[in-house]
Amino acid sequence: MGRAFCYVILGGGVAAGYAALQFIRLGCETAAQAGEFCIISDEAVPPYERPTLSKGYLFPEGGARLPAFHTCVGANDQLLDADWYREYGIELILGTKVISVDVRRKTLDTSAGETISYERLIVATGARAVKLEEIGVNGGSDAENVCYLRDIADADKLVRVMRSCPAGADAVVVGGGYIGMECAAALVANRMKVTVVFPGKHLMANLFTPKIAEFYENYYESKGVTFIKGTAVSSLQISSGKVTAAILRDGRRLPADMVVVGIGARANTELFEGQLAMEKGGIKVDGQMRTSDASVYAVGDVAAFPVKLLGGEVRRLEHVDCARMTARHAVAGALEPLGPITGEINYVPFFYSRVFALSWRFYGDNAGEAVHFGDLDFSASPSPPSAPKFGALWVRAGRVTGAFLEGGSPEEYEALARAVRRRTTVPDVAVLLARWGLAFIVQD
Ligand code: FDA
Ligand code: NAD
Repeated sequence: MGRAFCYVILGGGVAAGYAALQFIRLGCETAAQAGEFCIISDEAVPPYERPTLSKGYLFPEGGARLPAFHTCVGANDQLLDADWYREYGIELILGTKVISVDVRRKTLDTSAGETISYERLIVATGARAVKLEEIGVNGGSDAENVCYLRDIADADKLVRVMRSCPAGADAVVVGGGYIGMECAAALVANRMKVTVVFPGKHLMANLFTPKIAEFYENYYESKGVTFIKGTAVSSLQISSGKVTAAILRDGRRLPADMVVVGIGARANTELFEGQLAMEKGGIKVDGQMRTSDASVYAVGDVAAFPVKLLGGEVRRLEHVDCARMTARHAVAGALEPLGPITGEINYVPFFYSRVFALSWRFYGDNAGEAVHFGDLDFSASPSPPSAPKFGALWVRAGRVTGAFLEGGSPEEYEALARAVRRRTTVPDVAVLLARWGLAFIVQD
């Protein structure tokens, strides 16, 4: 026995929150009040802005706490707390894991032993953190002082462990991607001595050019962070349930009072393997975010969708703006028989980060030749610049494909987004961009 809903959102993260608001905005209040919508999440709280977990949540004092960062405050929109869902009649089934799905029968089985049926399903299961064991480092994940960062429970553990360490204690960060960079900055703010270890040649190898990475590495070093590149952690020394040191492949031993692991994410697709078409490690969808089953949509980190800007190439983008936009698009499509008909999604990839006093944004695709502008080199200065401004444009076949900017104004960021969206023509890469840099784009 179980309940039946017209619309079920599976997952209670960023995309779920934006999908819920979109349902109401598109005029489904009456349907919601009639009990046609539900969100099923294994998290204990309503959807929140996940990016806060690696930023404001980790501040040494006055950190952000719920309910202040429930969706959709990250897009300067309404804050949807538990009362909001209650008011609109959207059923929040929290602390409940979906353990199996039968796409053919349109049913979900939950960890609470309930079978829930749907007419339309929006899959918003996101991604999970890759575990140390998956890269061959055993025994660490259960240690008291080893932290991952995916959800609020992880963030609470990280804060607890950080606060239990004395000032100047050793933190080892495994991974030089988004989590590694953002957590290393937070650990420094919490007065830890930080060493970041990763196998690549430079930070954020999937996005940054070597020159951009060099700026951030120098900046971090000026804050006391040590980088160990080109090697990896091979094992952990554990005593009484706590890691005491990380051993590197090259034999070095790094003392550790705590370890933060950020070695990538995997989309949560398992419930649908063998039932829906997959691509790029996610659930394949069309331009309406519809999967290979017409009743099932997928959004956010789990969805692999065609990016028009890239000639329809299928991509899976693990970033918050994508979760918001794909969720809104899918809802408009899922309501098609009742409401508006949407076209194909036309999404310009957008990522951002904030660390220390720095803040950058990236639009588009980092493919082609990268041409830098602004002042990236502060090696001759005694200290890092207080308000750096620099960036890069990626140019392919005479057109802008991607744009990165550190320290921009809202108008400058908008100009970059526009240049990428329009695929602005660049007549002479070397001369024009090197001479005019950002002004070239802003004046366009
Ligand atoms: P999300 O992970 O948000 O939600 C998935 C939900 O599904 C979770 O509630 C999960 O528990 C639930 N779920 C999964 N399987 C389930 C099951 N079987 N049953 C029930 N529930 C299930 N991006 C960016 O652009 N800028 C940034 O600064 C940051 N910062 C950032 C910090 C941290 C710490 C993380 C982890 C991630 C970011 N991101 C980011 C990425 C961004 O947060 C991410 O892309 C979105 O959260 C994706 O939204 P989704 O809703 O797809 O997944
Ligand atoms: P990531 O893919 O950004 O980085 C993974 C890092 O792990 C890379 O530096 C890689 O070199 C390193 N690595 C791989 N194998 C390793 C090994 N054996 N030993 C040590 N390092 C190894 O992933 P992440 O930083 O873990 O982030 C997880 C998810 O959270 C991603 O989806 C990311 O997009 C998201 N996130 C995004 C933001 C943002 O957009 N600002 C911020 C935080 C998290």
